[in-house]
Amino acid sequence: MIGGAGLLMGLGLGPSAVEAAKKPDRLPPQVGDRLKITRGAHKDKFLRPEMLKVNQAPFEGFPYGVEDDVLRKRNRFNRLLFVKVEPDAIDAEIAPRAADGVLVYSAICTHTGCTIKSWVADDQHFRCHCHLSEFAVLTGGSVRGGPARAPLPMLGVAIDDEGYVVVAEAFNRKPGFKG
Ligand code: FES
Repeated sequence: MIGGAGLLMGLGLGPSAVEAAKKPDRLPPQVGDRLKITRGAHKDKFLRPEMLKVNQAPFEGFPYGVEDDVLRKRNRFNRLLFVKVEPDAIDAEIAPRAADGVLVYSAICTHTGCTIKSWVADDQHFRCHCHLSEFAVLTGGSVRGGPARAPLPMLGVAIDDEGYVVVAEAFNRKPGFKG
């Protein structure tokens, strides 16, 4: 039996109708979503810039829909890494996507889709343990080593009136593996 998004696709409706039919916990990050930390000392808190120190290992988390009151964790491609760097060190091209030095990247490696877990603070890059691809944080997740060919997608973020980091722009490229 086909239901929801599958049925709409079958009826030939466009991607926006398909997206609207998705359950809130499966939607991709939406503008205005807060970012919930799902591991470590700040587990279950919403991200604020002061929680992160410059160059510390990233926090992991998912987008959280405030209006829907839902953690959007039933979409694997919503798994995120939150990291903080010196704002002046960020490439001008991606600086508008940062807020107070906070950058938010997809945690899904673009090589074959492992979840990225390692951080190399010395030269600010993520390393995927599966085949050792490396993604430079200051230059928009560009590949700096290993077999991955595509940069790591990033969200645009801002700080809301209450001091929380929120989604301001969708991923700049589709998250997932590209081989
Ligand atoms: S899946 Fe990340 S390097 Fe292969």
